[in-house]
Amino acid sequence: MRERVSRFSGFVGVMQSPPEGTGSSGSIADRRDFVYSEDDFKLICKMIYRRVGISLAVSKRDMVYNRLSRRLRALRIPDFASYLKRLTADEKNPEWEPFVNALTTNTTSFFRESHHFPMLAELLLANSASRSNLSIWCSAASTGEEPYSIAMTVADTLGPKASQVSILATDVDTEVLKVAAAGVYPDERVEKMAPDLLRRHFLRGKGDQAGNVRVRPELCQMVDFAQLNLLAPEWPMRGQFDAIFCRNVLIYFDRQTQAQIVTRFAPLLRPDGLLFIGHSESLFHVSEIFRLRGQTTYQRIMPGEPLE
Ligand SMILES: C[S@@+](CC[C@H](N)C(=O)[O-])C[C@H]1O[C@@H](n2cnc3c(N)ncnc32)[C@H](O)[C@@H]1O
Repeated sequence: MRERVSRFSGFVGVMQSPPEGTGSSGSIADRRDFVYSEDDFKLICKMIYRRVGISLAVSKRDMVYNRLSRRLRALRIPDFASYLKRLTADEKNPEWEPFVNALTTNTTSFFRESHHFPMLAELLLANSASRSNLSIWCSAASTGEEPYSIAMTVADTLGPKASQVSILATDVDTEVLKVAAAGVYPDERVEKMAPDLLRRHFLRGKGDQAGNVRVRPELCQMVDFAQLNLLAPEWPMRGQFDAIFCRNVLIYFDRQTQAQIVTRFAPLLRPDGLLFIGHSESLFHVSEIFRLRGQTTYQRIMPGEPLE
């Protein structure tokens, strides 16, 4: 679990996740290279739901075609039915990994939903005064902007005491984790960041890397990246976190799956810990074991405490 994804191999080019919903060929029905039936789409929906909990809307039919047809092309498979048969015949088939990677949506940005970071800073100040080890879990880390925003907040809030904080960043998608671990981003990704923050935490690329920035190694070292499916029957982490970030991923799950996941967060969160979720997400009608503590920010209700 704690095994690091290799990431100090020098300041080299990185794979970038494709922009959302791209690779499209416009109105694709009449331009398809591969046979793709309604039943194929329905089966894909079932497969991705069972594997990682993502509920695909009917409106995603073309997006699914665009993303998976690249796999068919790479594998020289003539039609979706044959591709899907390969997967359904063997749940350990290594193709499951690119299948899942192709169907996740990885939109993210540095200091997205910025109101959460002052709350995190406040929590860090309070908890670091009474304890020497703090830990944070970023559970849908995507390409790393979120865990590095957490790390910047930790570094700028605690200064030399930042080393007391461990940050675990997980995602189900192995491709985005490679980008995250490399910590290299095109300049546009940081153009809205305050110049002093940028100077403190990033290096500017030169030569081959002109047009990119790289997260400073000391910040990179604060974050451990690992693959974790939130739907996995076992989560390997032990102990409790001061904060869990689970932002903009619950939205892809149905209510039952959301409830299962947040219920599993509860024992992993310290009684004073905070659970941060995304701007369009809510635990209302999902879980009664958390109380709202701020904008899309929750705290556990401890046994015996009155419900609010
Ligand atoms: C839209 S991004 C959100 C990224 C970041 N949390 C943010 O708010 O900017 C959703 C992320 O959730 C990940 N994801 C989807 N299903 C998952 C699952 N079952 N377990 C873990 N991560 C998952 C996707 O791979 C993707 O990187």
